Amino acid sequence: MFLHHLAAALSISVVYAATLTSNEFHLSLVGDGSGEYMMDWVTSTDITTSTLYYGNSASSLTQKATGTQSGNVVESTDLTVLCWTARLSNIKAGSTIYYDLSASGGTSTKSFNATAATSMTWAVFGDMGATVLGKASGITLPALKSGFSANVFHGILNIGDLGYELVTTVGAAYMQQLEPLTSAVPMHTTIGNHEMQYAFQGAMQNYYNRFSGITTGAGMASGSGSNTFYSFDAGYIHFIFINTEVYGDEAFMAANADGKWVANDTARVQMQQDQKNWMEYDLSHVKRSKTPFVVVCGHRPPNHIPTSATSSSNKFTKDLVPLFDKYNVDLMITGHEHAYYSIAASKIAGYNFPPWIV
Ligand SMILES: [Fe+2]
Repeated sequence: MFLHHLAAALSISVVYAATLTSNEFHLSLVGDGSGEYMMDWVTSTDITTSTLYYGNSASSLTQKATGTQSGNVVESTDLTVLCWTARLSNIKAGSTIYYDLSASGGTSTKSFNATAATSMTWAVFGDMGATVLGKASGITLPALKSGFSANVFHGILNIGDLGYELVTTVGAAYMQQLEPLTSAVPMHTTIGNHEMQYAFQGAMQNYYNRFSGITTGAGMASGSGSNTFYSFDAGYIHFIFINTEVYGDEAFMAANADGKWVANDTARVQMQQDQKNWMEYDLSHVKRSKTPFVVVCGHRPPNHIPTSATSSSNKFTKDLVPLFDKYNVDLMITGHEHAYYSIAASKIAGYNFPPWIV
């Protein structure tokens, strides 16, 4: 009897919490001409401060950026991580920046090349999913890694529908599979329907927490204060990311005061208005002498937001298409359809609309 009780007690005592295996670093551009970067990362939840040390030599991380907490993310039933973000200032274009969460550095020290923006090439994808689910990442991720190794691109445009879903173990796997890239080149994102549809499971809040560097970096710099619609300059291009889910045909989810995500059409209408107002402000302030090209990225293509772009009930057409014409947007890039095609410049509802690539 005694042994039985002892065994039962031991079986309880050996339930260990899972430990952190990756800091899931994610780099993004502030994109306001300052040359500054934002870095997101995760740690265990039992620490109260986290600092990013960086410098131009792996053996001399002389600068530091104090992390700001941006919330917890549940990665599995026995592991919750704490998200952080920090701004990296005093970055010299063309230099290699080494960084670590320890001032003394070591084998964990990583680096990124602060590419002179005029020579940046971008990799573009959406709808990738996590390899653990066998989604498109089975093809896309090896191609991305191979291009990255060959220095073919210097930044990533990830246009929504991220992890399928960006929750628990799948969300963690998604961040970790991309971490060799996102720790070394900036990745800019927006949400797709999969983040919105699975908000009730945490996908939207996880998106906000994991990519808060975009909110406080490019989001704040461009006046939106959001990581779902914002803009940034890179080289000769002014990139605008928009949230197409405010025009979607599925329930629009918003967080209540208690943090619970519920369908909320009032929030949808407000977000549509906020995005329209912001986009007009943003487009009217583009310095075409500095960034002659304007590229808009969003998840849903114009013909599926959610119905035909020429439909009189299509809010994307009503709110944003006139702005594409008025401010001569050069290109739109979208995802959602799991296929590649491109549409030549055309008219939508009487307005000039640029070429778009799906
Ligand atoms: Fe989608």
